[in-house]
Amino acid sequence: MKTFYIETFGCQMNAHDSEKVVGTLLGQGYSQVATPEEAELVFYNTCSIRDKAEQKVFHRLDQFKRNGQGKTFAVLGCVAQQEGEKIFEKAPHVSLVCGSASYNKLPELLVQLETGNRRVTGLSLDTDLTFETPLTRRDTPHRAYITIIEGCDKSCAYCVVPFTRGPERSRTSASVIAEASELARSGYSEIQLLGQNVNSYRDPSPAGWNFARLLDQVGRVEGIRRVRFTTSHPRDFVKEIIDAIDTNPALCNHVHLPAQSGSSRVLDSMQRLYTREQYMERIAWMKAAKRPIAITTDIIVGFPGETEADFEATLALMEEVEYDSMFSFKYSRRPNTAALRLEDQIPEEEKSRRLTIVQEKQRAIQIRRNAAYLGVVEECLVEGFNQATGQWIGRTSQNKTLNFVRRGEEDLRGRYVEARVTRAGPNSLAGECVN
Ligand code: 5AD
Ligand code: SF4
Repeated sequence: MKTFYIETFGCQMNAHDSEKVVGTLLGQGYSQVATPEEAELVFYNTCSIRDKAEQKVFHRLDQFKRNGQGKTFAVLGCVAQQEGEKIFEKAPHVSLVCGSASYNKLPELLVQLETGNRRVTGLSLDTDLTFETPLTRRDTPHRAYITIIEGCDKSCAYCVVPFTRGPERSRTSASVIAEASELARSGYSEIQLLGQNVNSYRDPSPAGWNFARLLDQVGRVEGIRRVRFTTSHPRDFVKEIIDAIDTNPALCNHVHLPAQSGSSRVLDSMQRLYTREQYMERIAWMKAAKRPIAITTDIIVGFPGETEADFEATLALMEEVEYDSMFSFKYSRRPNTAALRLEDQIPEEEKSRRLTIVQEKQRAIQIRRNAAYLGVVEECLVEGFNQATGQWIGRTSQNKTLNFVRRGEEDLRGRYVEARVTRAGPNSLAGECVN
């Protein structure tokens, strides 16, 4: 049992966990293959944020119910933690179930699998450790993730994450800076700091850095040109973060600040710990910044009890903030969460209606906002080349995709170039390189 395949669902935390899991497996002498058919050991790193995400892994496992003989199946991540040993009943061909708070134990769990144990679990949430690996197999060549905090201590009424990822654990500032320096030495120029709530980062070492300090210092590591961070929580988002962005050009002009709703009444029932006014205060800090900060968000429609007036408050919030981009979702009932007990669930058709309205409105806002970039020159990190269109794919500091043309055969990938915007659509910009 020495070849493995891994498929990852869900957020960037999961994507980066998989990079560390792959590093761990390679370190144990396993080799990675590109399809589940070729693999002896098949891993699914799962997401349970909404019901649809959770169902995906069971579909995958179903495909192998009959023809999976000779293979070993492992379920990792949020569905593993949430469903635990029930997964063995639903999918009896699964042999390993392990949540993210137990990844440090993966090497021992693999030994148990190799010695023939067919019901291996790592499901304890009782940990103060973060998952640090000597080897991380990174999926992207220029941009690298660094986890700074794991878990979540909030209790938003709709959210499974506190149950699937356990309590907050921050890494020491020294280990984060050491990882950033190491990445810079091996050629990475962009760092993305990750956590379920990066704003509540608290350095456990005597240095005692808060998030704003850590962010600024990562941006001062030699060789690091860009730093991003995700995700933020309005309750813990302090003005110092905007001050750091204003003074440190390596910090990208982009903040993702999930609002979830524009109605203080709904925010209260979601247990979000802020009002619409407090949220708007943070937006005002960003709009008053010296640098043009792109603002993006997450919105949930159809939370239990959301009235037409509440929904309209969300539409008004969108109009007021003018988000650069948005992820919007229909509320989905999740196991263990407080919102399960709320009355007045919104019918599915109504949730769909509200979602469509939000998405159409956001599209119009993006067309408007992106049009303002016509003629503007932006620095882009070049991510790749699109053969079909003959354009390079660039990303601006504001996290917008800017596809551009440039004469010459030179390979630009990983380079920073300047491009002038000549066309703007709702989801991307297009232009030409000026250097
Ligand atoms: N239903 C719908 N959307 C959800 N999110 C989290 N939990 C749920 C849920 N139960 C959304 C939130 C969060 C994003 C990652 O997913 O908007 O910010
Ligand atoms: Fe999905 Fe949330 Fe888990 Fe990320 S933390 S994988 S979004 S459930």
